[in-house]
Amino acid sequence: MARIVLMGPPGAGKGTQASAISKKLQVPHIASGNLLREHRAAGTPLGEQASGYMDKGQLVPDDVVIGMILDRLTKSDAAHGFLLDGFPRTIEQATALDKGLGSKPVEQALNIKVSTEELVKRLSGRLTCRNCQTPYHPISAPPKVTGKCDRCGGELYQRDDDKAETVRNRIVAYDKQTALLSDYYKKQHKLVEVNGEQGIDTVQVEIFKALGVKQ
Ligand code: AP5
Repeated sequence: MARIVLMGPPGAGKGTQASAISKKLQVPHIASGNLLREHRAAGTPLGEQASGYMDKGQLVPDDVVIGMILDRLTKSDAAHGFLLDGFPRTIEQATALDKGLGSKPVEQALNIKVSTEELVKRLSGRLTCRNCQTPYHPISAPPKVTGKCDRCGGELYQRDDDKAETVRNRIVAYDKQTALLSDYYKKQHKLVEVNGEQGIDTVQVEIFKALGVKQ
């Protein structure tokens, strides 16, 4: 059983590393951004509520996101653990999560650290699968076939919020609201950190080491 929160600024490599972690620990990868984009694509009321905020690179209001994630955590696949990616992002979300989890709290909060300069470089080149949302990059993580996802064959596209202006807003939102969360988990002795500014495979090795997982 593993109950892990994956943190880090936009472009830190959370999505890139999540599939290997979730496979290794056999827990579902639950990404708030992916769920919100699925709601938008399906045109649900929740997706419509979130759209304006996401397009501007701002955080979606806590009540919308908290309800969505706590509901997802009631699904049977999350009964024996989870890897939460991109949630919580505010202290309010973190305390709501603690309350929702009750006697089975978060065990580890993994923070992937990357400099702002590198984040901007990564996000401006990122391509994402329209179907399964796997991220790629033409230089650091190219797909085997140009324009197609290795995992599901889906079409690769540039996310609307990966345009330069929005990327800057997302980084500001992270610095103002989400960076504070490392202290929250540090005080609970749950914070582990890795240097995300290395090759993808090296970062993966460091993550497993930090989580105390045998490779
Ligand atoms: P979300 O989808 O969560 O985006 P994010 O946190 O901004 O994270 P990203 O998906 O952009 O980056 P990542 O860390 O997963 O990096 P990736 O692996 O793709 O959120 C989007 C929006 O939804 C938010 O702005 C907000 O509006 C809303 N939202 C979501 N959750 C919310 C919440 N809890 N509360 C309120 N609002 C919420 O990698 C990036 C690129 O770098 C890729 O191209 C990849 O190939 C490349 N790369 C990865 N690792 C490396 C490496 N080691 N070296 C070189 N390149 C690398």
